[in-house]
Amino acid sequence: MLGPALLAASRSNQVRNLITSAPGSRRLVGRFVVGENLADALDASRTLVSEGLAVTLDHLGEDTLDVSQADATRETYVELLGRLADLDLAGPVEVSLKLSALGQALPGDGDLIALENARAICAAARQAGTTVTLDMEDHTTVDSTLSILGELRVDFPSTGAVLQSCLRRTEADCRNLAHAGSRVRLVKGAYAEPSSVAHPAKADVDLAYVRCLKILMAGDGYPMVASHDPRMIELAGMLAERHGRAPGSYEFQMLHGIRTGEQRRLAAAGELVRVYVPYGADWYGYFMRRLAERPANVAFFLRSLVSR
Ligand code: FDA
Repeated sequence: MLGPALLAASRSNQVRNLITSAPGSRRLVGRFVVGENLADALDASRTLVSEGLAVTLDHLGEDTLDVSQADATRETYVELLGRLADLDLAGPVEVSLKLSALGQALPGDGDLIALENARAICAAARQAGTTVTLDMEDHTTVDSTLSILGELRVDFPSTGAVLQSCLRRTEADCRNLAHAGSRVRLVKGAYAEPSSVAHPAKADVDLAYVRCLKILMAGDGYPMVASHDPRMIELAGMLAERHGRAPGSYEFQMLHGIRTGEQRRLAAAGELVRVYVPYGADWYGYFMRRLAERPANVAFFLRSLVSR
């Protein structure tokens, strides 16, 4: 019950004001978010790359209803990609984008605005020598996001997408995207969704993840196994072996600050492991989704508020 309440709170301005101004918040946020500035993102990337890990950088922000803010987000990514190229980090470091931060939810031609902003970022990524993955947000955005993905892939075929096993539609989406050159990050899903479109029980989300993983690993695309769940990681290894996939024809992905020992263990075993590294001042929604995933984080957070 706590998870759905936290996910509802992630969209409440009142709770946002309370949490973002609480003095103890920043300490726990620091576990998940590397900092507010470009320099923080670059430092974290350099460190992870020196440890043999790959990175995907996310400039935090979502749900913008302001064209100038969407433009500013685009420019932030373009600058970031230029810096990655300057620092020779663009090989192991790619970027993740939320289309809602690029204008997708704007009334009228939001889809088109987000597409054009994403196109500019994909062009900057190509110039830098890296690529882009489109994050997936709540179920109302999936059709639009997959349609924008299709448009982007015409000129930037390496653009990747995220699919969420919690959604009933996702096995079919996996089949559609399991083709050569298609990069698909499979996650369980971090948003509160109605049972009309999503599996309500976690056990069913896990089983759906298994079915989706089987489709992607058997297909011709490039699966990105984004989970901290030891069972999914073990299954991915078994499926890779069954389908003759060498490390590098798929990859593991985990979030910054979660199961860091496992990230390093897999990398030491020769697997390609990419860490999702968020940075930026707009950390509230991301942070609340991380709390919702694990009640123990909430207890830790509350303790950090009272023990300061
Ligand atoms: P599960 O929730 O079953 O967790 C397995 C284990 O991992 C837990 O037992 C615990 O040990 C650890 N763990 C998981 N979450 C934790 C947390 N918050 N704090 C501490 N430990 C934790 N979602 C989405 O809807 N759209 C997206 O675009 C993305 N993008 C994305 C990228 C990457 C690289 C990852 C790894 C994840 C996402 N997600 C996402 C989030 C995803 O949907 C999901 O909510 C989390 O990954 C948690 O699910 P697990 O598969 O880890 O399993």
